Amino acid sequence: MGRGGRAGAPARTGGPFARIPIGPGRSVRLWQEDALASLPRRVRRPAVVVTSPPYNRRVRYASYADARPREEYLAWIRRLGEVVAGTLAPDGSFFLNVGGSPSDPWMPWDVAREIGRALVLQNVLHWVKSIAIDRGGGSGPSEAFGHYKPLGSARYVHGAHEYVFHFTHRGDVPIDRLAIGVPYRDRSNVGRWRRPPSELRCRGNTWFLPYATIRDRARDRPHPATFPVELPEWCVRLHGVGRARQVVDPFVGIGASAVAAARLGVDFVGFDLDAGYLAEAARRVRAELDGRPRASGTSPTPGRPEARRRRRPSRGGSTPSSASGGPRRPSRGRSGSPAWPSCPP
Ligand SMILES: C[S@@+](CC[C@H](N)C(=O)[O-])C[C@H]1O[C@@H](n2cnc3c(N)ncnc32)[C@H](O)[C@@H]1O
Repeated sequence: MGRGGRAGAPARTGGPFARIPIGPGRSVRLWQEDALASLPRRVRRPAVVVTSPPYNRRVRYASYADARPREEYLAWIRRLGEVVAGTLAPDGSFFLNVGGSPSDPWMPWDVAREIGRALVLQNVLHWVKSIAIDRGGGSGPSEAFGHYKPLGSARYVHGAHEYVFHFTHRGDVPIDRLAIGVPYRDRSNVGRWRRPPSELRCRGNTWFLPYATIRDRARDRPHPATFPVELPEWCVRLHGVGRARQVVDPFVGIGASAVAAARLGVDFVGFDLDAGYLAEAARRVRAELDGRPRASGTSPTPGRPEARRRRRPSRGGSTPSSASGGPRRPSRGRSGSPAWPSCPP
């Protein structure tokens, strides 16, 4: 299989792989095409580009060889930045999710530097996948939330976070911070600062978004490196749903960003090289629109009624998993499937 080459079904010509209407004049279009070549002709000044590119970490994708010489990979990322800058709306946002590894911690910043040649880095967000919170100053019980991939190492701690870099053309795009805001714990703080009073405060740049526990990887999350639906959903909401005329994901995988767009009712265009991933993406979008139970890989969104319902502790080990009383082993689905993604450390 050549780099970027196809291993599955032959590429379709003439039309999108899937076109799913989501409302008047809006649809989810999925293209089985090379994103860098096709973006300029398939999208029209998108307000939001949100994506996670291959990280060049030898992840076993179905149709893409994720192991290039570093300089070649970074040149490709630079080209991605140029292509996105050339298509993004003047007041648009480009959210780029990249993770590092303990042995290569500079990679996300090398990637950000390359994109930064074409766009301005406006915000750096930290996607926290798991966290342990100590009660009582470290000596009391601790509570662990989310999942991590255990790492047997004498020199590295395990990686429990990734970056989301927010790029814009000039670094001055207004954002809707309270769209993903956090309710004040103490209502006396409402209106304390010199701003119009609000029930919500800014969430800040640490976003705790755990992976959902899965029972069967091949069935529930048939892709080696996904993000949860809420990650692109929060990005679009932070940019402002009302200003998000079109959302684009150049590397759509099994469609987390497409599901997020369908959930928000926003026009969407996605690309991937692999027909199997795109078929799963289309299936998940249709399931979201049908209002069927959430696909695996999703967790509740703050502020949504189902989030409040689902956040209560459950007996079955559902998401987010949490426990108290000391360090935890990562939780597993009932069949014993690990809940973490399979990016290598
Ligand atoms: C990190 S994954 C994205 C996963 C996605 N965020 C999800 O949650 O399912 C990167 C994806 O990029 C795809 N890909 C690699 N090179 C591509 C290219 N030149 N054009 C379009 N897609 C590409 C791979 O097949 C892979 O599915």
